[in-house]
Amino acid sequence: MATSTPSPAPRLRAEFEAAGGKPIYVRRMFGRIARVYDLMNRLMTGGLDGRWRAFTVRQIALTSGQTALDIGTGTGDLAIALAKVSAPDSHIIGVDFTPEMLDIGREKLQHLGLADRVELQQGDGEQLAFPDNSFDACCSAFVVRNLADLHQGFTEMLRIVKPGGRVACLEISHPYNPIFAAAFHLYFDRIVPLLGKLVGKAFDAYSYLPTSVTTFPNAPQLKRIMEEAGWRDVRYYYRVGGVVAIHVATKPQA
Ligand SMILES: C[S@@+](CC[C@H](N)C(=O)[O-])C[C@H]1O[C@@H](n2cnc3c(N)ncnc32)[C@H](O)[C@@H]1O
Repeated sequence: MATSTPSPAPRLRAEFEAAGGKPIYVRRMFGRIARVYDLMNRLMTGGLDGRWRAFTVRQIALTSGQTALDIGTGTGDLAIALAKVSAPDSHIIGVDFTPEMLDIGREKLQHLGLADRVELQQGDGEQLAFPDNSFDACCSAFVVRNLADLHQGFTEMLRIVKPGGRVACLEISHPYNPIFAAAFHLYFDRIVPLLGKLVGKAFDAYSYLPTSVTTFPNAPQLKRIMEEAGWRDVRYYYRVGGVVAIHVATKPQA
């Protein structure tokens, strides 16, 4: 039986409906928090997010002349990390549907001297405006949880990657030790929203974060969803006891 995209928690479902749908809700939320997004990532994870991104991009590092797509690139951190581990003449495109996040990403790329290698474009990760088989790899960090249709997201990734190409997906997951899971949920459900309020006057946005994880598939379930979308050799790596999981897979040869 196919593993379908899980329904959001009832409170969240009502908020999506009030906004006119999940994509509109998500886009508005990231538009509001764009200015504090990077700082909040560093604070929430104690700087570990950089290490998780570095591990993720090492799985798909590009060789000379290759190209990759970073879906839901936001302020560009995953695309930047990929550029740093890849050949200097490789090219990365980052797509995101929130212009405010992309504006910050473009400022960062200019500052880092990477604007000629990493190009940010506005676009929908569930309906990518790229031909079939056009990238050597694709990646995402903290994005797939936000998609309206998870299966559609992985199907689109598969479509735009060349046969034999790879995907690497970093996402928040579910700690496997029950005691650690309880401590993590206390932190994630109670402290993180307060931090969001303090730093960015964004209590609601950082309340969405834990709620969006509650019904999100665990790592084995996500693996199955990727396989159903057509990805092969799907493997996953936990970090910090399952707080995040990195899924890596290959598109079968035609
Ligand atoms: C939590 S941020 C992650 C940003 C970045 N990948 C990182 O590592 O920090 C999620 C991003 O995904 C984007 N996003 C969510 N759903 C999307 C979709 N369907 N199409 C394009 N972007 C999407 C949001 O606008 C937001 O910038």
